[in-house]
Amino acid sequence: MYQDYFHLTRMPFSIAPDPYFMFMSERHREALSHLLYGVQGEGGILLLTGEVGTGKTTLCRCLLEQIEAQCNVAIILNPKMSVEELLASICDEFHIHVPVQAPSVKVLVDAINAHLLDANAKGRRAVLIIDEAQNLRVDVLEQIRLLTNLETNTRKLLQIILIGQPELQDMLRRPELRQVAQRIVARYHLGPLTRLEVAAYVVHRLRISGTQTPVFPYSLIGSLYRLTGGVPRLINLVCDRALLGTYVQRQLQVTPKTLEKAAREVIDVSIRQLRWRSLFAWSSLVLALYMGWGAVMAAGAIPLPPWMFSWQTPEWSAAVIAGTPAAPLLENASVSTVAAQAAVAPEPMSFAASNQPASGKHVLLWYAPPGFNTLLAGNWRI
Ligand SMILES: Nc1ncnc2c1ncn2[C@@H]1O[C@H](COP(=O)(O)OP(=O)(O)O)[C@@H](O)[C@H]1O
Ligand SMILES: [Mg+2]
Repeated sequence: MYQDYFHLTRMPFSIAPDPYFMFMSERHREALSHLLYGVQGEGGILLLTGEVGTGKTTLCRCLLEQIEAQCNVAIILNPKMSVEELLASICDEFHIHVPVQAPSVKVLVDAINAHLLDANAKGRRAVLIIDEAQNLRVDVLEQIRLLTNLETNTRKLLQIILIGQPELQDMLRRPELRQVAQRIVARYHLGPLTRLEVAAYVVHRLRISGTQTPVFPYSLIGSLYRLTGGVPRLINLVCDRALLGTYVQRQLQVTPKTLEKAAREVIDVSIRQLRWRSLFAWSSLVLALYMGWGAVMAAGAIPLPPWMFSWQTPEWSAAVIAGTPAAPLLENASVSTVAAQAAVAPEPMSFAASNQPASGKHVLLWYAPPGFNTLLAGNWRI
């Protein structure tokens, strides 16, 4: 829609895994090198993992472009299937004709083996690539392992590449899959782009699409990075929508407002998540500082003014800090007692700590508005 308006030869931010648009970040380059090196290797399983949208499938298509001339490649994009279905799909991909209707696993494996031996005799390598491998069933993964057993006296006949989301790594840590895990000869994890790479990525995609004009001012890159976390698919979604918005407003450059609006329209949930995440990080920091201050004073590093020794017995205060029956003195205290005691706290919000020389314990004193202590007592079941 906006293609002509911005003088673009193609849509710059499509979400198709088109290798033509490949931007070789340092990680993408390394990952591709790992895969290329692995394909030339002696067989086994290569593992490529990465968060959703980080470019695994696009990278896999780049790999295909580079190896197709020397290798027979079978690529399975949706491996949510049974063992028989997977083997039948591999046969289809390798153009193996299986003369039997509803063939058994043995017939299929024999046919694949014959094909691999033939390819090997012709000096061609065979590569099986399985995308979205986190969807593989355990029995199917086990069958894949068995395929790595197909070999001559000197080398394995099939190189397998498993591509998947990070949960694939967790799956492979399961005890029942340890034999599969032991066949993995190389692993690579693809992360999101850095802030600088996001800038280069946007320029790269626009340039490939035929424009050098700064449709996205550099000043927007920080926001784009924050909104998308550097995940290329999200960048594409947001940039595509931002260009549409800019076109509708008949402007030549994306503005901060258009970018925010675009992000809200296409990745609404992620933005909320980002906001929650930053809120959580800030609260944790404040809490850590708060507790750290108390700990320093508890250690006697800073002498406390007398007004800080007041309303509660040190034991009660310690319970509030510990928050669990771990403070033995308090195991029998009921919530209502604590709440009642807390409710008479006279001081407004403040926090202090001291040594308690009589008992020899380090005790933290907690001063808070009555409601706050009641809340703690209720929630933490002291
Ligand atoms: N390095 C990259 N260069 C160019 N485009 C990329 C890159 N990484 C991801 N993309 C783009 O992001 C989108 C999602 O990529 P994809 O490979 O499908 O991610 P994944 O398979 O990891 O979920 C696609 O439009 C793809 O073109
Ligand atoms: Mg993918």
